[in-house]
Amino acid sequence: MADTFETAKAAADVVRVTYAEEKPNVDTELKADDEPDVVATTFSMRERLQSQRGDADAAFTRAPVMLDQTYVTPAETHNPIELHATTAVWDGSTLTLYEGSQGVFNLRGILAQMFGLPIESVRVITRFLGSGFGGKLWPWTHCPLAAAAARQLGKPVQLVVSRKMMFQTTGHRARTQQRVRLGATAEGKLVSLQHDYVYHRSVLDAHHEDCGEATAFQYSVPNLRVTFGRAKRNVGSTVDMRGPGAVPGLYATESAMNELAEQLNIDPVRLRVINEPKIDEELGIPFSSRHLLECFELGAEKFGWSRRTPAVGSMKRDGLTLGWGMAGCTWIAARFPAEASVQLRDDGTAGTARVACGTQDIGTGTYTILAQLASEKTGVPVGKVEVALGDTSLPEGPLSGGSMATASVVPAVFAAADSAIASLLSVATAAPGSPFERRKPEELTFEDGRIFVKADGTAAAVPFADVLRRANLRLITGSGKSEATFGNPKPKLSTHSFGCHFVEVTWQPEIARLRVSRVVTVMDAGRILNPLAGRNQIEGAVVMGIGMALLEHTSYDRRTGAPINSNLADYVVAVNADVPPIDVHFLDFPDKEINALGARGIGEIGLAGIAAAITDAVHHATGVRVRELPVKIEHLLG
Ligand code: MOS
Repeated sequence: MADTFETAKAAADVVRVTYAEEKPNVDTELKADDEPDVVATTFSMRERLQSQRGDADAAFTRAPVMLDQTYVTPAETHNPIELHATTAVWDGSTLTLYEGSQGVFNLRGILAQMFGLPIESVRVITRFLGSGFGGKLWPWTHCPLAAAAARQLGKPVQLVVSRKMMFQTTGHRARTQQRVRLGATAEGKLVSLQHDYVYHRSVLDAHHEDCGEATAFQYSVPNLRVTFGRAKRNVGSTVDMRGPGAVPGLYATESAMNELAEQLNIDPVRLRVINEPKIDEELGIPFSSRHLLECFELGAEKFGWSRRTPAVGSMKRDGLTLGWGMAGCTWIAARFPAEASVQLRDDGTAGTARVACGTQDIGTGTYTILAQLASEKTGVPVGKVEVALGDTSLPEGPLSGGSMATASVVPAVFAAADSAIASLLSVATAAPGSPFERRKPEELTFEDGRIFVKADGTAAAVPFADVLRRANLRLITGSGKSEATFGNPKPKLSTHSFGCHFVEVTWQPEIARLRVSRVVTVMDAGRILNPLAGRNQIEGAVVMGIGMALLEHTSYDRRTGAPINSNLADYVVAVNADVPPIDVHFLDFPDKEINALGARGIGEIGLAGIAAAITDAVHHATGVRVRELPVKIEHLLG
């Protein structure tokens, strides 16, 4: 038995494995495998004819203006700085796992199932996460391996997945190949939209990369068809990566819209305005709150878009050729189920609060948001609110995924606070010696951390900590719960966030240097609970978008199937030197359909559309349409 990492490594190194080699298939040209019309995916059974209305083929054939192009996005690998890591500890038949997880409750359920344990015998703890981008949403093999090894050895086992292994065993974004056909009138009204996409998947699983998620509702078009196919390859499992499906999907459809605008000689913003839908034409229901046109308006103004001259290479500054491009974007807005608890505590002064929810902070500011929410309801200053997250011993919280954590926890935390306050008011009327002893709870109210008789106003208000002390209580707890809106099969309103990006690139043909030099991003994401954290999310997504457009791709070795560039030196991501000033603006249209505050999520939408805006800017500067990401210098060398 190895007691140290070094001994274990030495032992592993002498193990000789023999196996028959076969030639892997990592072909990059994707053709849909021969499969039935309805296929099983990780999420559910899915019809490959994803959406259809009118007669897209006939309308396309008759359209005065036609565009038919194919767009390719590469396999991208999540590279959070924090590696995947687990520490598994057994205490008798109870397993505790310290893991960097975007979903501790889901991980607990799966481990309990795998080890045949009751769910109460497994605890998963993720206090902090060095980011995840979707790569840490679901459990990977290292979690059960560490747990099994720890049980076998009778000792805690820590397992860290190396950067190189992360390219193989902890997921990646599927490569996609997407054919987009647009038919339009000479005035720019869309008459037909067809989006047929194929993505690669591993031999063993069926993750669905839903590139068509936004296609059927983003524009008004009477004739539409969205289909998908899959191509098996000898690669590791594909999985969600920031803005799964919609991000590669919108790259394709927004690129097609930009190309159509050029073909029509219409400004790309104008083309989108012409095709703005009045309702969600896929579901035939209104949007809860859609302000995409206001996004375009503000973005164009902040960017100075009206000064754009459309001819390729026609704009210059300081000896550099400028390229200006834009694109719109959207991302789902919904809630997962959530539970939370709120405590009001007597600390001997004016009182403190604690809010607890088994969701995670993946670097997005969830700790801060929960403190803000609890503070708003209880009147306890943010600095005096303790927040507990990332532990399955807490009330069950949502995944940190789909940009839904914030929207999901709002109603649960509010309900928990309301319940704590209701208990407090009962205590206030029941405790001997309480100033409210002879009152009924309904005569009292709670505001800014103080209790008073409604009819008397705040003059005789008493801090809640005083009431707790009179009642000889250290604390009072309330629990709250809220339901999911995600997955509702019959929604009355279509709930999404919207936004746009305006991008400037500079191009120096003499030395083939391309830079993104300016980005203006505008988001219609409901009420923003914390503008600083919100802006940070969008800036991060735009940085990732620069990587997506210009740098990121995973290459597979044709001989072995292994990822070749499986390290941070060769898998190039955007760094400070690649990133210009990013000017982020939020519109302020609270979406009350989502929760009482009208707050939608903002983690992922910032990455949607940005690659199409960048490639359009590249075309404007260089005259080259790159339809296979990432844009490489060799694409641009005449
Ligand atoms: Mo995001 S791909 O839902 O972590």
